[in-house]
Amino acid sequence: MWKFRFMVTESKTESTFGGPAQPLISVSGVRHSFGGLLALDNVSFDVQPGCIKAVIGPNGAGKTTLFNIISGLIKPDEGQITFRGKPITGLPPHRIGKLGLSRTFQNLSLFENMTVLENVMVGAHRRSRSGILAAVLHFPRQRREERETREIALRHLEDVGLEDRADLPVGVLSFGQRRLVELARALASDPEVILLDEPASGLNTWETINLGKVITQIRDRGVTMLLVEHDMSLVMDISDHIVVLNFGEHVAEDVPEAIRSNKNVITIYLGGDFDSASD
Ligand SMILES: Nc1ncnc2c1ncn2[C@@H]1O[C@H](COP(=O)(O)OP(=O)(O)OP(=O)(O)O)[C@@H](O)[C@H]1O
Ligand SMILES: [Mg+2]
Repeated sequence: MWKFRFMVTESKTESTFGGPAQPLISVSGVRHSFGGLLALDNVSFDVQPGCIKAVIGPNGAGKTTLFNIISGLIKPDEGQITFRGKPITGLPPHRIGKLGLSRTFQNLSLFENMTVLENVMVGAHRRSRSGILAAVLHFPRQRREERETREIALRHLEDVGLEDRADLPVGVLSFGQRRLVELARALASDPEVILLDEPASGLNTWETINLGKVITQIRDRGVTMLLVEHDMSLVMDISDHIVVLNFGEHVAEDVPEAIRSNKNVITIYLGGDFDSASD
């Protein structure tokens, strides 16, 4: 079942006892090299629960590497990631997924020979007790779980506005719709946080505006969003907080209005024209 979680925005991070709220994710001193190339150099920042936090920076800044480290695909050379205060550095991706962290990929990773609904059901199966293999065996409990999984998947297709495409092969959808299917699949695992790697890449203007609305609605239900994105108008419109990377270094972190006028950030983005800095 979709759980409605309390929304705690970045501006409301004081706990009921007056102290700062515990970050949902904490990235601390993360360093990682590929051979001789330093992809991330001592990067630290926190993600507060219930916010949209964007990670921006030019191509090769280390954004996807950072996502791969947070989600367990890469073990960093140095540094720590905590999730709800507990260290998760080096845990395998499926363990991190079970803790409540889900993600989408820069390059779409859908099952082309399956329907839209089946693709989303894969996400929901990650939290079922039986798993996909047991479902294939069709024991009564598995049949019941299968039915529930379909209902969950349909509900999340509704969240992204694609319920009327449920039974179509995913391959016939537009690129923008396929990105929404990936988002619905991430939602179906009932995550506390979703990492979105360039969700607007390849989308037209209308699709991007729609995506922004969908991401904001999901945040408003209390799911924290960590967003890597090159589309600066989308980032500025929907983010609560932004961290900027450049050549693997953390160069700035602030609310969108402050990032927009940050001199270092303006220099990094095309030597001054920040608003046209969309890829
Ligand atoms: N598997 C790898 N092997 C070697 N080098 C890599 C690998 N993955 C990333 N890199 C390098 O690490 C650096 C950071 O890459 P990364 O993909 O994290 O950047 P990014 O900020 O996501 O860029 P983009 O905006 O283009 O997606 C780049 O110089 C890249 O070439
Ligand atoms: Mg990337």
